Amino acid sequence: MSFTVAIDGPAAAGKGTISRAVAAHFGFAHLDTGLLYRAVAARMLDGFDPVVAAQGLDPAHLERGDLRSPAVSQAASKVAAIAEVRAALVDFQRAFGARAGGAVLDGRDIGTVICPEAEVKLFVTASDEVRAERRWRELAAGGVDTTPADVLAEIRERDRRDSARATAPLRPAEDAFVLDTSRMSIDEAVAAAISAIGERQR
Ligand code: DC
Repeated sequence: MSFTVAIDGPAAAGKGTISRAVAAHFGFAHLDTGLLYRAVAARMLDGFDPVVAAQGLDPAHLERGDLRSPAVSQAASKVAAIAEVRAALVDFQRAFGARAGGAVLDGRDIGTVICPEAEVKLFVTASDEVRAERRWRELAAGGVDTTPADVLAEIRERDRRDSARATAPLRPAEDAFVLDTSRMSIDEAVAAAISAIGERQR
């Protein structure tokens, strides 16, 4: 039997951390759907047409080492506004969501477009400043030379583009449980997510 958890939210809200922890806790598979758009973007930066890249996306493309770079982040948000790119990635995501044994998918449109029938929908968010600070720490720890102000500008630009696009814009599903992690530790946010999911499992 399938059990689908949809986790959406803006850039750097902690979706990845929460999704991985939730998947490990319940023994579900996890798909970071942002990686699909990042892989398409990296191929576009290599010179490929983004629609062709999305249609021919290969699991090996998801393993590239450059997918988290700021340049790929911005390009991912741009290719994600192309309706044909999104359409090419729908079947793979839906099949993942329907797999037996449970699945967690995190992204921007999982609860609204990809898996509108998901058993649980979470919308994970935090203030712009908190998200920028967290992402800056992550990038700095990985050796990326940037400033909190640059990261704040980068995620605001991406959120604006992701929310304003015509196809599958970033927004909470009507039946999503909104989790604002601005004042929460990672452990508190994970515990809140697990308890929201646990309630739906009973
Ligand atoms: O989750 P992320 O930051 O890795 O996603 C990178 C970009 O991909 C994001 O700015 C918008 C796009 N994206 C999307 O449009 N829909 C998704 N389900 C996941 C990501």
